[in-house]
Amino acid sequence: MYQGDYGPAVEKSMEILVALGDIYQAEKMVEISSAQISGVSYKTIGDAGLEFLEEMAQTARVRVPSTLNPAGVDLDHWEELGFSREFTERQLRIVSAYQKMGITTTCTCTPYLASNLPTLGSHLAWSESSAVCYVNSVIGARSNREGGPGALSAAICGRTPLYGYHLESNRKASLVVEVETNLRGADYGALGYLVGKVVGGGVPYFQVPGKPGPNDLKSLGAALASSGAVALYHVQDVTPEYHLAMRGLEVGDVDLMTVEESDVKDAREKLSSSTRKPDLVCLGCPHASLDEVSKIASFLNGKTLKNDLWICTSILVKAAADRMGYTEIIEKAGGRIVTDTCMVVAPIEELEYQVIGVNSAKAANYVPSMCGLEVVYDDLENLLYFK
Ligand code: F3S
Repeated sequence: MYQGDYGPAVEKSMEILVALGDIYQAEKMVEISSAQISGVSYKTIGDAGLEFLEEMAQTARVRVPSTLNPAGVDLDHWEELGFSREFTERQLRIVSAYQKMGITTTCTCTPYLASNLPTLGSHLAWSESSAVCYVNSVIGARSNREGGPGALSAAICGRTPLYGYHLESNRKASLVVEVETNLRGADYGALGYLVGKVVGGGVPYFQVPGKPGPNDLKSLGAALASSGAVALYHVQDVTPEYHLAMRGLEVGDVDLMTVEESDVKDAREKLSSSTRKPDLVCLGCPHASLDEVSKIASFLNGKTLKNDLWICTSILVKAAADRMGYTEIIEKAGGRIVTDTCMVVAPIEELEYQVIGVNSAKAANYVPSMCGLEVVYDDLENLLYFK
């Protein structure tokens, strides 16, 4: 591959992987079972990214199952949502270049809920930080936080350099977090936000009361990955590798942090940049599971919303929500299920909204900087207003 025997796209990709391996002193490459590729929204990659991808698509084909991160618009309903034709045309060219390379265009940051589900111990090259955090921590697969080009190169070559979180030795805890308060809803994102700031790129080990479920872990990981650079965390008695996280460590190898009720409350307040009522509420960061959509539908049943509501998810979850009747209930209330995109990578700043309500600490962290809009962070029950 490196010598160009498989064509220029593979050669270029292998050069990138070898350079990465040299930087991180990897001893060899490891075969991957899947890739997840970011760098999809035209808002984030622009014309330079579009041109690069169209050139690659002329010859490059992926060797492993690969899926895409969210794009900048709902690919089917962009016009109804108010996105411009000019932006969408470029966005569709990006998605079609990826599709030409053999990548599945499900455009979601929760591919593990939509056909790209790894197994325990499998090696991956994934690039969406919240998804990397989920598959490393909750599933026990192994991926570094790849950049878009690194993940694409790995998908094309079917390999990635063996370093970082691919190695058992780098999966040990660096910070024990004792949580001394019960957590629910948006508390998990707030906890992730405050621990991420302390642990940076380390590996937190949580001792929490109760048993957080998959949706709670999804929120926690996304927040850890956005306020810090976390790619892996452990939760005692919950995640699959927690019992290995402390093995072989000595006193002094791990720091200790205690989180009380007032810390969580504080973090929740810090995540809001406004006290105004949100004119648009965006749920589904990371993209909503069917279970989350079902709970939102039962909360909205028979009510009429005052603010606009987007529930961001993948087309697979939306198809199931349609069949279950959740979409109808949500639309009757005045909300909508939006697929392929999200409140951060879509150009929502071009729409008429000013204050965005979110129940995701990751979204609260990024909406002000990426979209220039104000944000309110709370549980969905407190963000939505009814007629
Ligand atoms: Fe996904 Fe967008 Fe949040 S990509 S994790 S919904 S910022």
